[in-house]
Amino acid sequence: MTQHQRLLIIDFGSQVTQLIARRLRELSVYCEIHPYQQVDDAFLAEFAPKAIILSGGPDSVTRIGSPRPPKSVFTLGVPVLGICYGQQVMMQELGGLVETGHGTAEFGRAYVTPAADRLPLLDGWFNGADGREQVWMSHGDHVSRIAPGFQVFGTSPGAPFAITADPSRNFFAVQFHPEVHHTPNGAKLYENFVRLAGFTGDWTMASYKDEAIARIREQVGDKQVICGLSGGVDSSVAAVLIHEAIGDQLTCVFVDHGLLRLNEAEEVVTMFRDNYNIPLIHADEADLFLGELDGVSDPETKRKIIGRLFIDVFQKYASQIDGAEFLAQGTLYPDVIESVSFSGGPSVTIKSHHNVGGLPEKMGLKLVEPLRELFKDEVRALGRELRLPEKFIGRHPFPGPGLAIRCPGEITREKLEILRRADAVYIDQIRRHGLYDDIWQAFAAILPMRTVGVMGDGRTYDFALALRAVTSVDGMTADYYPFTHEFLGETSTRIINEVRGINRVFYDCTSKPPGTIELE
Ligand code: XMP
Repeated sequence: MTQHQRLLIIDFGSQVTQLIARRLRELSVYCEIHPYQQVDDAFLAEFAPKAIILSGGPDSVTRIGSPRPPKSVFTLGVPVLGICYGQQVMMQELGGLVETGHGTAEFGRAYVTPAADRLPLLDGWFNGADGREQVWMSHGDHVSRIAPGFQVFGTSPGAPFAITADPSRNFFAVQFHPEVHHTPNGAKLYENFVRLAGFTGDWTMASYKDEAIARIREQVGDKQVICGLSGGVDSSVAAVLIHEAIGDQLTCVFVDHGLLRLNEAEEVVTMFRDNYNIPLIHADEADLFLGELDGVSDPETKRKIIGRLFIDVFQKYASQIDGAEFLAQGTLYPDVIESVSFSGGPSVTIKSHHNVGGLPEKMGLKLVEPLRELFKDEVRALGRELRLPEKFIGRHPFPGPGLAIRCPGEITREKLEILRRADAVYIDQIRRHGLYDDIWQAFAAILPMRTVGVMGDGRTYDFALALRAVTSVDGMTADYYPFTHEFLGETSTRIINEVRGINRVFYDCTSKPPGTIELE
C-alpha cells in the first residue's frame, strides 16, 4: 500500500468517475476509486483518507434502497466533496431534502452564477467578463432543501443549489460535473479542494519509482520472475522497473508471432539487449502462429487461436527458467477499475482481448504487477524516470494479436508483408507531419478485397488499404483524427507509389462507438 497522502473516491456508478481520478492525479494527488459497496467503517479506518469525494451515479436517492456511503464518511473530520448524485446523497444524509423531476431536470451545458459570499473552493471562478461559469449538468433529481449548516454559493436556472457548502466542516456539494471537459474551469475546483484538504502534491513518479522498487524486492525475495515482453510501453516499463529492483532474477520472453510491424522484433530485442542487459529470450514462433491461422477468417476464432498459442509458447519457454515463481504483467489502473467496476463490467463480449491472463493459474505462478496503480500517462512518466528511450515511451498502443486483427478475412504472408510496408509509410507520414503525439493510435489495415486501378499505361488489380487514426483518453471511446485533405492525398500517393500490392487507399472516419478502434 502506498505511503502517500490518500484521497478516496467513492463510486456510485457514474460513467465519468475515472475522470475525477485523472484530474486528481494531474495535481500529484494519490487517489483510489472504490465502489460504494466496498466502503465500510473498517475500510475507511484502514484507507485513512485525507479527503473523500462522492461520485455521481445513475440512481435516485429518493428510491428506497438506493446507494449510500457509510455514515462515518461525515464524522471522520476530513473534507468531503459530493458531485451530482454524491451531492444529493450528502444532502439527504445530512438532513436536507431531494426531490424528483417537476420540470427541473437539466442535461448538458448550464451557467452558474455566484452568490454574495465567497468560498475558497471557488477561488479562480467567476472571473470572466460575464461573471458566470459554464458547467455540465446531468440530473433528474434536485435538492429542494439544503442540509442544516449548508449555505448556497452558486445557482443555475435549473439548480438553485448548484454549489452549496458547510465551510465550518469543509463539506462541499456541487450539482454539476467539474471533472468533464464541458466544465472548462472544473480542474480549478479540484485544485482548490485538495489544497483545502492539505494535500502537498506528494505523488510523483520519482518517489513512486523508489517505493515500487522496494515493494518488488520485498515481494519477490530471491526468487525468479518471468515477464512477457511485447515491446509496448506497459510491458517495457514493467520489465525495466523490475530489472532495477532485482537485476538478473528477471528473464523476459519476447514472443514473435509473425504478426508484428516492420522491424519491430529487431527494435525491441536490440533496445533491451543494448540498453539493459536483461536476460531475454527471443522466441521466433512465426511459423507456428501463421500455420494455425492459415485459412481462418473469423475474428473471434483468430483471437482464440492466438491467445491459446501464446500461452503454450510462453509456458514452453518459461519452463526452461529454473525456479520461476512469479509472472510480471503490465496491468494498469484502468484494468483494475474495470474488473471491480460498479456495474460489474461489460455485459456483452465485443471481442476476446488477448493477454497472458490464464497463465498464472495454469502455471502456478504469482503475479507481480508494479503498474496496477498507474494510468497510461503515469506509466510514460515512470518510463522517463527510468530513462527508457523516448521512442519506446511515446509509442502508440499495439494489440496482442498484432496485425492479425488488421487483416480482416484470411491472413496470408503476402498480405502481412504488404501491410507492414504500407503501415510503415503511413506512420512515417504522421511523424514527418509532427502528428504522432497528437494521435492515440494510428495504423493501416489491409482489406479483404482487390480493386481495379490504372498505373502508368497498365491495369492493376491490387489490395485496398484502410487507414485508421483516433484520439482517445483511454481507448474506451475514440474520435477519428481529422487529418487535412492535403495530408490524406499525400499519404495515399506515397503508399500507392512505394508499396507494391496496394492500388487504393481509404480513410476510416468512424468514431468509437459505433466502431471499435481495431477492425476486428
Ligand atoms: P478496440 O478495437 O476494442 O481497442 O476498440 C481498444 C484498444 O485496445 C487495443 N486492443 C487490444 N490490446 N489485446 C491487447 O493487448 C487485444 O486483444 C486487443 N484488442 C484491441 C486496441 O489496439 C486499442 O488500443
